[in-house]
Amino acid sequence: MVLGKRTAEDIWIAPSLLAADFAHLAEEICVVEKGGADLLHLDVMDGHFVPNLTIGLPVVKSIRGVSKLPFDAHLMITDPLKYAPRFAEAGADSITFHAECSSDMVATARQIRELGVGVGVCINPQTPAEVIFEVLEEVDLVLVMSVHPGFGGQEFMPEVLEKAKMLRERMKTDQWLQIDGGIDQQTIGEAAAAGANCFVAGVAIFRADDPAKAISDLRDEARRSMKR
Ligand code: DX5
Ligand code: ZN
Repeated sequence: MVLGKRTAEDIWIAPSLLAADFAHLAEEICVVEKGGADLLHLDVMDGHFVPNLTIGLPVVKSIRGVSKLPFDAHLMITDPLKYAPRFAEAGADSITFHAECSSDMVATARQIRELGVGVGVCINPQTPAEVIFEVLEEVDLVLVMSVHPGFGGQEFMPEVLEKAKMLRERMKTDQWLQIDGGIDQQTIGEAAAAGANCFVAGVAIFRADDPAKAISDLRDEARRSMKR
């Protein structure tokens, strides 16, 4: 499956599995799938580009069997092209690479697309928006990090919102502007107002008393503030 195109009204909520209880992944995924999640966000870390290790291929393969949700692989790894084919094979529906990890982003995006999956490009909080202008036409999704990548549960960085606005203005209506890190009921509104329409949230969903309610509350809050 590849990523669907968006319309101006669409809002996607992507629970980040990093905040789930890893002893009960199948049940945790089932809760957010029934609760209305649009994508399942999978944070892949290599202990090199970021100082942490998380979900790898066997986990993606195993959970593929228990969910029909599109899998959104966020590769926080130094060599995205080396592993992208394996993540596609394991069941990822979209693959996002970091601009900081590619010397030729257009070629990277095209090679990922050839795998038959959706393509995303991501920038860290310190990376200027201009760095990815050259690749905007090649991707389905742009991911603006609103925390330093590597760990869940960090505080949202509002200073990245100017970049989000700048990118939204250059992107087509049917492309997704995703924001990742520190998204909750308090911060999702400003991200939506800046033009984001795809929201990753880990702690705010998986650690909520009622994850399904958290998903619908986040969506309602985003809709209220969304820029069309
Ligand atoms: C951080 C990851 C995020 C993280 C978000 O490197 O890319 O996806 O899981 O977690 P919260 O929503 O808890 O900040
Ligand atoms: Zn992520």
